[in-house]
Amino acid sequence: MIRIDSVTKRYPDGTVAVDRLSLEIPDRSITVLVGPSGCGKTTTLRMINRMVEPSEGTILLDGKDIQQQPVNTLRRSMGYVIQNAGLFQHRTILDNIATVPRLLGWGKEKSRARARELMDRVGLDGALAKRYPYQLSGGQQQRVGVARALAADPPVLLMDEPFSAVDPIVRKGLQDELLRIQGELGKTIVFVTHDIDEAVKLGTMVAVMRTGGRLAQFAPPAELLTNPADSFVEDFLGTDRGIRRLSFFPAAGLELLTSPITAIDATAEQIAARDTADAPYLLVTDLDGKPLGWAEPQDLTAGAIDSAQLIPYGRPFVPGTDSLRAALDCAVLSPTGWAVAVDGEGRAAGVVSQQTIGEAIRGAHAKSAQGATTEKVAR
Ligand SMILES: Nc1ncnc2c1ncn2[C@@H]1O[C@H](COP(=O)(O)OP(=O)(O)O)[C@@H](O)[C@H]1O
Ligand SMILES: [Mg+2]
Repeated sequence: MIRIDSVTKRYPDGTVAVDRLSLEIPDRSITVLVGPSGCGKTTTLRMINRMVEPSEGTILLDGKDIQQQPVNTLRRSMGYVIQNAGLFQHRTILDNIATVPRLLGWGKEKSRARARELMDRVGLDGALAKRYPYQLSGGQQQRVGVARALAADPPVLLMDEPFSAVDPIVRKGLQDELLRIQGELGKTIVFVTHDIDEAVKLGTMVAVMRTGGRLAQFAPPAELLTNPADSFVEDFLGTDRGIRRLSFFPAAGLELLTSPITAIDATAEQIAARDTADAPYLLVTDLDGKPLGWAEPQDLTAGAIDSAQLIPYGRPFVPGTDSLRAALDCAVLSPTGWAVAVDGEGRAAGVVSQQTIGEAIRGAHAKSAQGATTEKVAR
């Protein structure tokens, strides 16, 4: 565990970048430092690997004061990733990744073999190994930066706004990749960002900092969204806090209706039997059970259902892996106001109305108010 104990950093010009900060950073999880520009995030991160020395206070790594450890040994246990990757422009991708193993005296072959393994790990095509950084996209370079930081298998990874310079789609890919890698490798990651959405998505714990280098709140993301400590944190979280909080409630508990589902080859009797008071529309599926679209029961003629005439069903959700936020989004986007749930194979598993989702949201809120824990759901 990394423990930051009442640490202050005063730069020579008198700027107090970090003010009596105390944090316990748990092992094998992602702790995010988030806050507006200039609030002391980078300074805090750099004090952890002693690129910046604190003016007051102590930082402990596994119970030992980092001041008492040789800087080189300390840094070897901490990979460091920065914005724009900071790659060596005159070295190939493979040699960039092999940098630390080479410094540690591993042989050339062993270092390169390790670098190849890491390219695979971070989702880089091996064909890129011989290229130079300028021949890669921003997102690919950022993956190289992560691979390089992981090369010597350090237990700790320090990441300073690593994904801030890439476009939103690439960024989402990098975030998903980081979560996957973290799930596989179980590193202790300290991740700096100014983006609260990124913080909520990645963090097991999130430290919100405010200008002047002071800690505003340190909590798991769901707790942050539920109980912001003060108006600064509340403002920083933005106006759709309630909607975003729904990401932490699984859609699995939603009551799905299967009665309004009918296959495209349905007989007149089957269509009539499906026409229940529960739902104003029927969901028509293909012969494999995959949704095609909605129709009002009286518009369906047995044996002559034209799939082109159906009302689009929008985007479906997967109850097992998606959140209430995803389910609500599907219902809001659906022209009928009903969301379609599918299984892993894309077959219709049921339908659910906005109203039912609304009731589930109220239920989830009531439950969490009683102190039930909320876990992270995929989206
Ligand atoms: N080397 C330095 N000398 C003087 N002031 C600095 C130095 N580095 C950062 N600062 C100041 O310290 C504060 C925190 O900076 P920084 O840690 O980089 O913030 P963040 O990463 O949150 O944007 C800012 O006011 C910044 O201008
Ligand atoms: Mg910074």
